[in-house]
Amino acid sequence: MRLREPARWAADADRAAAGEVGNLVENVIEIHGLTKVYTMGEVEVHALAGLDLIVETGEFLAVMGPSGSGKSTLMNIVGCLDRPTDGTYRLDGVDVSSLNRDARAEIRNAKIGFVFQSFNLLARTSAIENVELPLLYGELGWSKGKRHEAAIESLRIVGLAGREDHYPSQLSGGQQQRVAIARALVTQPAMLLADEPTGNLDSRTSEEIMGIFQQLNDTGKTVVLITHEPDIAQHAKRVVTVRDGRIQNDEKIQQHRVAAKGIAPPVQPMTR
Ligand SMILES: Nc1ncnc2c1ncn2[C@@H]1O[C@H](COP(=O)(O)OP(=O)(O)OP(=O)(O)O)[C@@H](O)[C@H]1O
Ligand SMILES: [Mg+2]
Repeated sequence: MRLREPARWAADADRAAAGEVGNLVENVIEIHGLTKVYTMGEVEVHALAGLDLIVETGEFLAVMGPSGSGKSTLMNIVGCLDRPTDGTYRLDGVDVSSLNRDARAEIRNAKIGFVFQSFNLLARTSAIENVELPLLYGELGWSKGKRHEAAIESLRIVGLAGREDHYPSQLSGGQQQRVAIARALVTQPAMLLADEPTGNLDSRTSEEIMGIFQQLNDTGKTVVLITHEPDIAQHAKRVVTVRDGRIQNDEKIQQHRVAAKGIAPPVQPMTR
């Protein structure tokens, strides 16, 4: 499996800058009739009940919905961590609904950058080593030098140049989440998938992190974010609400909330 070429991202950025993203035929996520049934003894729980969702390259989507509505179930499937009972899922043009565990792991590593509520950084590992980690998996075969260079570039993008050798305990919560975003970016995935990324952060730091996602999206990155907080969702360009395993509401945000200027550092597209 090959990763996207760096040039591809640059091309995405060009298209985003030209305002053409909405016209791309390419969809990062294409889901039709997705169902997920959990069987608990004699009881069947229909966590997803025939859900359809298309996300185009370059979108910034927030997924909301009440507890138990199926968000995590959906995200586990979108993130190739689980497979559906029925229905189809194409990720960046690849039909992943029927792949086995190993094939799913491979495509997950190549195409998705995860960001979690609890950062999930290795504690006794420096920022740069945390960011290099995803480059050790899969079939990249990059040299040590190239991995190092890519990690430095990712940390620079999220505004952490100079903090490469800090350990997580030496960084603030917001900085730790930036490291996690840099780690998600380093493989140049087709999309960033963030599950409650501001759940552990105060409101000012949340705003800062949303600023980073917005600026990455401005460079053409597709961002899919789960959140319980309407204020956070308003930073996206589109909000879908899940209820009873289906999309209940799908709304374009005309005037999305722009994270306070001057807080987030400038983000530039990868130059490699
Ligand atoms: N592993 C499982 N086994 C059985 N039932 C499950 C399992 N995971 C989820 N469910 C059920 O599927 C439904 C959807 O759950 P899901 O975790 O996707 O909801 P959610 O929208 O993420 O909720 P929350 O906002 O509380 O995280 C719920 O009724 C839940 O009880
Ligand atoms: Mg959940």
